[in-house]
Amino acid sequence: MPGQPAIGVTLTAFKGGQAKSTTAVNLAVLLAKRGLATLLVDCDPQCNSSGLFVRWDEVKYSLRSAIVPREPGEKPVPIESVIQPTRIPNLAVLPASFELSLLDKEMVVSANWHTRIQRALRPIQNEYQFIVFDTAPGLSHLTLGALAASRYFVIPIAPEVWAGEGLRLFMQWIQEQQAEEVFDAQLLGLLATRVEHGTRISRTLLQQLRANHEYLPAFETSIPKRVGNEDAVQARAVAGEPASDPDITAAYERFVIEALKRIDELEADKGRHRG
Ligand SMILES: Nc1ncnc2c1ncn2[C@@H]1O[C@H](COP(=O)(O)OP(=O)(O)OP(=O)(O)O)[C@@H](O)[C@H]1O
Ligand SMILES: [Mg+2]
Repeated sequence: MPGQPAIGVTLTAFKGGQAKSTTAVNLAVLLAKRGLATLLVDCDPQCNSSGLFVRWDEVKYSLRSAIVPREPGEKPVPIESVIQPTRIPNLAVLPASFELSLLDKEMVVSANWHTRIQRALRPIQNEYQFIVFDTAPGLSHLTLGALAASRYFVIPIAPEVWAGEGLRLFMQWIQEQQAEEVFDAQLLGLLATRVEHGTRISRTLLQQLRANHEYLPAFETSIPKRVGNEDAVQARAVAGEPASDPDITAAYERFVIEALKRIDELEADKGRHRG
């Protein structure tokens, strides 16, 4: 709703390569295509998601520029100067850079470090309906900062050995952070990615997600594995563009519809509790 603070959604996972960036980009692009003003914030120094929209060697400012002054005593760069428009209408991007690796360390020594990203985004939070955060794998301070700026998080999970064990430990860590009031973002759902129907490991993953649904909600949609995804990344093509994979786009469209429905329900619940 315009005039209301944007709803933040973080993509996070303990294990690398679970399709966080792929999901963040598809979510952001498909929200924008529905006419919802969306900002994609890349919190990963690998720059995988913002790299599809801006050339990293042309990025002058990143999230770090809006938080840490270039010289002591100076002010950080205004957030509006860091955000870049993209070729997709309704989608803007806050690019990452290699410097984010430094920010991860700097955040620890600053006061109220976990709210630094949230505070940096405050001046523009009413200009967007959604802010999608892509994060690096693991337990970085930047990821905590993104979670503290979010109302919801989504955990993508690919059919891989150890993915389940990593998830269990990661959820335990998240619950500890929630108990310590570092953030109160809520799990929107687990999303099965790179699913190959017909393989035992994919079947096992889908069965486990269904079995745990009561404790850890999972999306009904799963994202199929398609070799075309690598070609799309190489062509820097995103959902709907000619070089993108139509099956992957269709699956992410179903995911976005489900995600919006869940957000509506959860927001209505929160409204009822407040009222
Ligand atoms: N549905 C899919 N089908 C085929 N390949 C996919 C699919 N989704 C993602 N990939 C590929 O899997 C790899 C990991 O995906 P991605 O970069 O999105 O994961 P990530 O969780 O962001 O990784 P990292 O932990 O390094 O940030 C990439 O090479 C990506 O192109
Ligand atoms: Mg990534």
